[in-house]
Amino acid sequence: MVCSSPRARQNTNASRLLGSVSGILQVTSLLILLLLLIKAAQLYLHRQWLLKALQQFPCPPSHWFFGHFQKFQQDQELQRIRKWVEMFPSACPLWLWGGKARVQLHDPDYMKVILGRSDPKSHGSYRFLAPWIGYGLLLLNGQTWFQHRRMLTPAFHYDILKAYVALMADSVRVMLDKWEKLLGQDSPLEVFQHVSLMTLDTIMKCAFSHQGSIQVDRDSQSYIQAISDLNNLVFSRVRNVFHQNDTIYSLTSTGRWTHRACQLAHQHTDQVIQLRKAQLQKEGELEKVKRKKHLDFLDILLLAKMENGNILSDKDLRVKWTHSCSRADTTAASGISWILYALATHPKHQERCREEIHGLLGDGASITWNHLDQMPYTTMCIKEALRLYPPVPGISRELSTPVTFPDGRSLPKGIAVMLSIYGLHHNPKVWPNPEVFDPSRFAPGSAQHSHAFLPFSGGSRNCIGKQCHEQLGPTLTPRFELLPDPTRIPIPTTCLKKSNGSRRF
Ligand code: HEM
Repeated sequence: MVCSSPRARQNTNASRLLGSVSGILQVTSLLILLLLLIKAAQLYLHRQWLLKALQQFPCPPSHWFFGHFQKFQQDQELQRIRKWVEMFPSACPLWLWGGKARVQLHDPDYMKVILGRSDPKSHGSYRFLAPWIGYGLLLLNGQTWFQHRRMLTPAFHYDILKAYVALMADSVRVMLDKWEKLLGQDSPLEVFQHVSLMTLDTIMKCAFSHQGSIQVDRDSQSYIQAISDLNNLVFSRVRNVFHQNDTIYSLTSTGRWTHRACQLAHQHTDQVIQLRKAQLQKEGELEKVKRKKHLDFLDILLLAKMENGNILSDKDLRVKWTHSCSRADTTAASGISWILYALATHPKHQERCREEIHGLLGDGASITWNHLDQMPYTTMCIKEALRLYPPVPGISRELSTPVTFPDGRSLPKGIAVMLSIYGLHHNPKVWPNPEVFDPSRFAPGSAQHSHAFLPFSGGSRNCIGKQCHEQLGPTLTPRFELLPDPTRIPIPTTCLKKSNGSRRF
């Protein structure tokens, strides 16, 4: 018979516990190791598959893990595109971190092939936009996208847009009045924030029947700040190896910042929806709207029924119009600011535009739809500025079937392609001397490839609000002479930057 003291029994239990804990730790470590090995094998096999799939498309040497990102900082991305376009005028793979790659296209024939197909948007590039703009028209694919596009297209009918010109001219007048007061202080004016407020004001009036001017509203300033932050945050997340996983990102300070900015943007959106809903509930208002020949964007959504007969929920509504309001606002504001900058740096062209508009409107007359096609030179300058500084530098697709390009090279299903609008517009084979601002490229009768100029993309997924550029004319009024500020030369980048005068497209 063996007797043991209570202390000895305790020691035995403790060592058994330690033994089982270390056993569990060993098994866990082995499992983690196994998972890491499987992941590494997957990455290796995927990289081998990509190397084979892209062998017809040469590119500069890259790091096996960091790809081409190791060599280029974010600020140098557009510089890199210009250099590569000269070396590879049609297309060239860009290796991303972790052995991923996408093929960047710079050639109009290549663009035509891809925009003529119906490949979905590439998940990797667009998914970071989802918490902000939700799965609205911009991010949807397939049948759901088709239904939504069909539902919203009437909101951009010419007859509706005609009425918008006067509303836009009104928003522009408010902005210019503000400038007049500020310029009395004889200091340079950073126009981007003002233009952002003006475009937001226009979109709110045109698409959401918003009354009054938000340009003088303090809340709108924080909204503009939030969406400009979101633009930066989304672009920097795409490039950060450690910020790809949603859970890890939500724990970082930038993840929390993104969350706060999204909340602020959504609050603003919700307020606008509630306001319009309340107006529609007033007696007779709903009937008045239903009798309208053409409904605006928010009214279409508010009156739309889901297939099962329920009215769209507020969240659905927010998702469907946030892009148009927030992302389109920054895109349009960026476009207008660069047009103003291009004119400020080319005084002779600016003078010709001013004379043209002055000849048409004289002093003080307000611009109307009928004036828009009577400004050929101003239109040429706007197009040339959109060529040189495209507000959307590139869009992505994921090939759903293999593709063969006109030069015989092909890519298999599953490859991500980036249609580099910036690369196309700066391609010397398409646009000789691409860095020179030359509006005569768009002179009436000048021959161009159908897909050489794509600021609003092309094909069935082109920009639904593209006619807006025709309405940019009113901003170029003869009230001011624009001059560049030599102490703050803006540097184009792929994301919004404020500190050093850089500006996103
Ligand atoms: C200078 C101003 C603008 C430019 C340069 C521009 C450019 C673009 C581009 C390049 C796309 C294609 C995106 C892609 O395929 O990923 C696009 C899509 C879109 N744009 Fe614009 N945009 C502008 C203004 C606007 C405005 C004012 C609105 C609405 C009020 C708008 C609404 C949309 C929508 C809803 C889509 C998604 C269309 C779809 O996928 O069916 N945009 N835009």
